Amino acid sequence: MSGDQLLERLTRIAAGGCAMIIVGDVPVLPHSFGPSLYTKKGFSFYQELAQKVHAHGCKLCAQLHQSDTRFGGMWKYLPGLVTGTITRDQLRQKVNDATGPYITSLPREKVEEITLAFGQAARLAVQAGFDIVQVHGDRMCGSFSSSLFNHRTDEYGGSPENRARFAVEAVSSIRRVLPDLPIDYKLAIRQENPGYGRAGVLEEELPVFVSLLEEAGVTSFHITLANHGKLTDTIPPRDHPEFGAEGCFLKFCDQVRPLTRLPLCGVGGLTSPDFAEEQLKQGRMDCAGLSRPLLADSQWPKKTAAGQVGEIRPCLRCNQCLSGMMAHQGVHCIYERKEFK
Ligand SMILES: Cc1cc2nc3c(=O)[nH]c(=O)nc-3n(C[C@H](O)[C@H](O)[C@H](O)COP(=O)(O)O)c2cc1C
Repeated sequence: MSGDQLLERLTRIAAGGCAMIIVGDVPVLPHSFGPSLYTKKGFSFYQELAQKVHAHGCKLCAQLHQSDTRFGGMWKYLPGLVTGTITRDQLRQKVNDATGPYITSLPREKVEEITLAFGQAARLAVQAGFDIVQVHGDRMCGSFSSSLFNHRTDEYGGSPENRARFAVEAVSSIRRVLPDLPIDYKLAIRQENPGYGRAGVLEEELPVFVSLLEEAGVTSFHITLANHGKLTDTIPPRDHPEFGAEGCFLKFCDQVRPLTRLPLCGVGGLTSPDFAEEQLKQGRMDCAGLSRPLLADSQWPKKTAAGQVGEIRPCLRCNQCLSGMMAHQGVHCIYERKEFK
């Protein structure tokens, strides 16, 4: 979306009663895609966003991330994409194939530069008005975590403790700079049977990762499926063979629950307020994360609080919102079509 459209959309969501908005993919290094905390324009954008959402009593969280794609190696596929000889899915596959070698060969000085940048970016985020940061546990943290991508032989590869080191150093870098800042961690989980996700943390390695991340200064976890499979696995439509049901990723919260007393945020298919309320009551999650349901109806929280659940325009999990996003034409919900107006 353009900056103005994004400001309008997120302000509308804040006005709908949402407690906190997580702004996706805020880059930790100066030279990356998307609004940058390091440029005057990007910083002003985040400042304006913070003012606008705070006016509605909504908190703002920056999802700090570092991409695990070596973009330099991808330009050669651009002509094929433009002429149609390479499909988007094929490009995605090529990006995935390049991730392992990139992570495995990343020089130690570069690793240090990136992990330190998490602290610098967090400081800037707070200066811009963000209330909390989330470390994106997928992307580079996720590919370092995964034995499928990370084949390093130094202290960043091999054992789960070593594969957790990159993420732990990213969190520690923020904690050193901002001792009191809440740090959420997007814990992306890889399921082996049946296999879903390729980055992130394997289910059986969760005890190691969760305790190391908590020790490093994480104050809450956001629990979901890991990346580098299909986009429709992490954002599943309702007919998805494995994750089509309401609360599709809550089973991962159940695995993390015995490992920590920190708050857990569940996400994925929380379309029904009654269902979400029941999961909160049962203690499966402490917060409900919603993405597509707030695109379908930004008033979801207010209507729920007012007992007007029947008035909510329900997310159909049809994933029409992804078509616009993938074509770089903005995120548009099916309800924005004129036949629904
Ligand atoms: C349009 C769109 C953009 C998204 N962007 C991000 C992102 O930048 N970072 C992220 O961690 N997740 C992103 N997600 C995934 C959501 O955070 C969420 O995990 C997923 O959509 C499942 O939740 P839902 O059923 O409430 O939509 C995005 C989802 C959608 C639909």
